[in-house]
Amino acid sequence: MKFTILAILLLWFSPVFSAPTDTLTSTQSLSSNQTLISATGKFELGFFTQQNPKKYYLGIWYKDIPSDNVYVWVGNRDAPSLSDSCTLKFDDQGNLVISDDQSHIRWQINGSTAKNPVLQLLDSGNLVIREAGDTGSGGYLWQSFDHPTDTLIPGQKLGWNLKTGLDRFLTSWAGPDDPGTGNYSFKMDYHGDPEIYMRYGDRIIYRSGPWVGQRFSGVPEMATGNNGFNFTFYRGPDEVYYTFELPPGGEVKSRLLVTFDGYLSRFTWVPNTRQWTRYWYARADDCDTYRVCGPYTVCNTSGFFDCQCPQGFEPKNPQDWDLRDGSSGCVRKTELDCGKDGFLKLVNMKLPESTTAFVDEGLNLNQCRDMCKRNCSCTAYANLNVVQGVGNGCVYWTDNLTDMRDYVQGGQDLYIRLAASDLGSQGSGIGSDSAKKIVMGIGIAIASIVLLAGIIALIILRRKKAQTLFRRRLGETRASRAGTTERSQEILISGQIISSKRDYSGETNNLEDVELPIFDLYTMAVATNNFDDATKLGQGGFGRVYKGVLPDGQEIAVKRLSKESGQGVEEFKNEVRLIAKLQHRNLVRLLGCCVEMDEKMLIYEYLKNRSLDAFLFHDERKSLLNWQTRFNIICGIARGLLYLHQDSRYRIVHRDMKASNILLDGEMNPKISDFGMARIFGGDQTEGNTRRVVGTYGYMAPEYAMDGLFSVKSDVFSFGVLVLEIISGTKNRGFYNSDHELHLLGYSWKLWKEGKGTEILDKVMGDSYSVHEVLRCLQVGLLCVQERAEDRPTMASVVLMLGSESASLPQPRLPGFCMGWNPTETDSSSSKQDESFTVNQVTVTMLNAR
Ligand SMILES: *[C@@H]1O[C@H](CO)[C@@H](O)[C@H](O)[C@H]1NC(C)=O
Ligand SMILES: *[C@@H]1O[C@H](CO)[C@@H](O)[C@H](O)[C@H]1NC(C)=O
Ligand SMILES: *[C@@H]1O[C@H](CO)[C@@H](O)[C@H](O)[C@H]1NC(C)=O
Ligand SMILES: *[C@@H]1O[C@H](CO)[C@@H](O)[C@H](O)[C@H]1NC(C)=O
Ligand SMILES: *[C@@H]1O[C@H](CO)[C@@H](O)[C@H](O)[C@H]1NC(C)=O
Ligand SMILES: *[C@@H]1O[C@H](CO)[C@@H](O)[C@H](O)[C@H]1NC(C)=O
Ligand SMILES: *[C@@H]1O[C@H](CO)[C@@H](O)[C@H](O)[C@H]1NC(C)=O
Repeated sequence: MKFTILAILLLWFSPVFSAPTDTLTSTQSLSSNQTLISATGKFELGFFTQQNPKKYYLGIWYKDIPSDNVYVWVGNRDAPSLSDSCTLKFDDQGNLVISDDQSHIRWQINGSTAKNPVLQLLDSGNLVIREAGDTGSGGYLWQSFDHPTDTLIPGQKLGWNLKTGLDRFLTSWAGPDDPGTGNYSFKMDYHGDPEIYMRYGDRIIYRSGPWVGQRFSGVPEMATGNNGFNFTFYRGPDEVYYTFELPPGGEVKSRLLVTFDGYLSRFTWVPNTRQWTRYWYARADDCDTYRVCGPYTVCNTSGFFDCQCPQGFEPKNPQDWDLRDGSSGCVRKTELDCGKDGFLKLVNMKLPESTTAFVDEGLNLNQCRDMCKRNCSCTAYANLNVVQGVGNGCVYWTDNLTDMRDYVQGGQDLYIRLAASDLGSQGSGIGSDSAKKIVMGIGIAIASIVLLAGIIALIILRRKKAQTLFRRRLGETRASRAGTTERSQEILISGQIISSKRDYSGETNNLEDVELPIFDLYTMAVATNNFDDATKLGQGGFGRVYKGVLPDGQEIAVKRLSKESGQGVEEFKNEVRLIAKLQHRNLVRLLGCCVEMDEKMLIYEYLKNRSLDAFLFHDERKSLLNWQTRFNIICGIARGLLYLHQDSRYRIVHRDMKASNILLDGEMNPKISDFGMARIFGGDQTEGNTRRVVGTYGYMAPEYAMDGLFSVKSDVFSFGVLVLEIISGTKNRGFYNSDHELHLLGYSWKLWKEGKGTEILDKVMGDSYSVHEVLRCLQVGLLCVQERAEDRPTMASVVLMLGSESASLPQPRLPGFCMGWNPTETDSSSSKQDESFTVNQVTVTMLNAR
């Protein structure tokens, strides 16, 4: 979707004259305005162009999907022709060449020399060279399917011909409008149990997991609802490859693509939707990132922290773990003792990295187990294939187990070696009959009940104590800072972290599946010196924020929600659930929460430099923000927002992007905070509607303020406002200039139009800035605040535009809410002014309501 929009925006495909044939003989040539069309008109080969400067590429596209700018293959991707006189033909030696004029050869296909060659575009989309008169049944002299670009289409193989050493792999485009070879590749490693790795340059960023019968281990979605798709993985002595076929009928089209920005995506065209839909993509959550957690971890996105140690393992470095850095991985609690070890069954798993594993197709699961048990270096085993729930074959590992994750559904059983003493009740299997299990089960049940009763009693007691203490403390005069020692002993008892799963307050603070540290009220009261005004950091929309210090010295920010605030339990839960799952260096980190009595609090990491507005709009402090810092802040916010919109597991609309919600750490890195109003969208939903418009005047997109219609594009608008504020160092709201009917957006646009863009720049910057960067940021800002949501770029393109000096940016149109000055666009009549007037009223009313 995003890709299509970008493609439509940036690519230009000129209408061409089509020769009604699918072949080119050695005496013919194909000029830039001619094409070959496959036998039944499915595919077309010709030159497509790209503007600025105009370049000509030889490409293959879907003939029957008009102007969708999808190129399934590009020939001269790194050697475009710059002239419309380019032609494709066979030279005198029988090589296929693209020449610019009579002499200059741009690109040629090597080693396909034939006496009388013919080029043919097959109905499969494969472009082949064969000897004239030869049907190609004995193979082709050359075929485009052997030299893929970024796309795999049905019938095309991804993988190895081990005899010839031919490796077919995908490589991304260099940019949305640049077919040149990009840095992302998707390439098979045929060793061990083969897998396909996605790399950025040399660095692995994702792996598919081994093929496990009907799907890749890392793509559980493939097994369910494949709607007649035939995914095939062939493993033979001569060839190892992956390919797929479409359901018969021919209406459905589908392609696997490595996008320019590094997402492996399956796009499918279903006739009745008339558009390409991204059905699946990889690197959809943090656990898809290669080795995001260290050895022997199981990555699991449902908790507070992704990295988990399986039973029998513990964090290698608990301190890292507390800081939510799982890269050091887990280690065994008990060392192995070969002969006496057992196996722990883990379910719904993505199998560990397996290109160093060993495969024995002849063994069943029991034999596999025996073999693994006998070999002391064997660390885990699993079925090689599971087809319709029935397993066969054996794969076993002798290395550290890396890059495992588990899935809610799908996935596979994996048996990992554990010392007998760590197995507990589960899995040892050897000699444990069912009677034993039942006795054990009853024992455990009784023990649990006793334990539970104990815990409940303890909690009730503690809660009473905490409440009395808390009430007493609140009643105390603030001056009583004396009994510190006594107090910190109290803290040691009550400051421990309790899992939210235990509903210890007895109230309905049911945070569902969120595994988040719960701090108790007393700890919070002590940390903030009874919520002393002196520790107050600020006043947010829904309550106050205090600075606190935990007993261990860690500084925290405590957001205490006011009882009469609009944020009810729902919003609170929303925020907790949401942030607990988000992890990105440009998002503020939630450390825990506190729900007790009538209090609701969120505990965040404390950021030294507090919020952006405290610098940006402060007469003296603003000079601390030089251009480089401001540019970094803009880029950081953009990346954080992109993560929210697209890269995290959910599609999240923040709905309250503004300078005071951007926090700065010690190095002035921006972190987006305050997710109280964020909305999670389902995978396909792109737009929502609300009757309760929340947000902040000056940052709200027109369609949101007026119609309550919010989408990622309303965040983009707020982001644009923020960018203009950061550049200019002035608030959008309350902006004055000599031309006083203009607000910041209108004024910026006016300067931009007049070619005086740098005048908007904050005066404290002096001359130390890059004109280029300033103008690029200004243009991006203006693109983001355009009136029509559909004109605004996505955050993905924003990040791209900010990061690339060469990206060509469209010209911004009139900003939203912009009346007054507008000499070039006459379509915005006085009725628009009326609209904006109402908007201001609406907004102000809403603000009052908060
Ligand atoms: C395009 O096609 C027309 C008609 O066949 C021809 O006259 C013209 O020279 C072609 N232009 C180019 C650039 O090849
Ligand atoms: C053909 O060989 C030339 C020279 O070795 C090389 O520059 C060019 O990239 C090759 N063409 C293709 C399509 O591989
Ligand atoms: C690919 O990576 C290299 C080295 O990191 C970098 O210089 C280049 O700009 C990258 N290319 C693209 C298209 O991102
Ligand atoms: C799936 O495709 C493979 C190879 O393309 C073929 O051998 C196999 O028969 C197909 N299976 C079905 C069920 O169509
Ligand atoms: C364990 O299995 C691996 C792989 O098959 C083999 O290389 C190794 O020699 C075996 N070790 C023992 C002790 O059998
Ligand atoms: C396995 O992990 C341990 C601890 O992380 C490390 O010391 C060791 O080198 C690893 N072994 C292999 C074969 O990678
Ligand atoms: C992840 O961890 C949670 C909590 O520990 C557990 O309930 C769940 O089964 C695990 N797996 C998945 C896929 O959520």
